[in-house]
Amino acid sequence: MIWETVVTTRAPDGRVHIAPMGIRIEGGRVVLAPFRPSTTLDNVLATGVATVNMTDDVRIFAGCLTGRHDWPTVACERIACVRLADPLAHRELKLARVEDDATRPRLLCDIVFERTHRPFAGFNRAQAAVVEAAILVSRLEMLPADKIDAELAYLTIAIEKTAGPAEREAWSWLTARIAQFRGGGRQEKI
Ligand SMILES: Cc1cc2nc3c(=O)[nH]c(=O)nc-3n(C[C@H](O)[C@H](O)[C@H](O)COP(=O)(O)O)c2cc1C
Repeated sequence: MIWETVVTTRAPDGRVHIAPMGIRIEGGRVVLAPFRPSTTLDNVLATGVATVNMTDDVRIFAGCLTGRHDWPTVACERIACVRLADPLAHRELKLARVEDDATRPRLLCDIVFERTHRPFAGFNRAQAAVVEAAILVSRLEMLPADKIDAELAYLTIAIEKTAGPAEREAWSWLTARIAQFRGGGRQEKI
């Protein structure tokens, strides 16, 4: 099973990095699997720590995929890292083992601290739609345009029926990125 989370790390010089990332839980450990090249990978290998944030603020997922990387963070409790300022919950991780791979290494991490900050509010279809659209945006160069259009058309139903302001804002960032890409806008590494 894969859980879509937001991973926060720091570079050796202290710079904060925030990236949406799917995690697995295996034998009580959190497994991160970043595709190379990856700042998250570089930071975890350099510092030996990372934080996994569980959040229902889908603007962070859409924002990171559209160049909006600056989200509020605070210091962690047990590791020299940061967490999101307002997550539902977070887990502080120490790197235990690396399964190296030329394409997608696996980072197996021990959970050294975890805290729940707010209760799960229930499923929201628009939030799920934003996460799906963020995945589409992360694959713009790989997916055929008609597949993206068909998926967006379906996901739009959930946005129209169930979104709040945050989900609408996140959705607008993603659809603007797709339009920019199709207009010949440069696709930077985001
Ligand atoms: C829901 C979601 C899940 C993602 N999961 C992963 C992942 O498991 N591994 C990965 O390399 N990128 C993943 N991505 C894409 C990264 O967030 C994005 O490419 C990011 O720039 C990672 O590279 P970085 O570590 O250099 O920031 C995901 C994106 C989304 C929206």
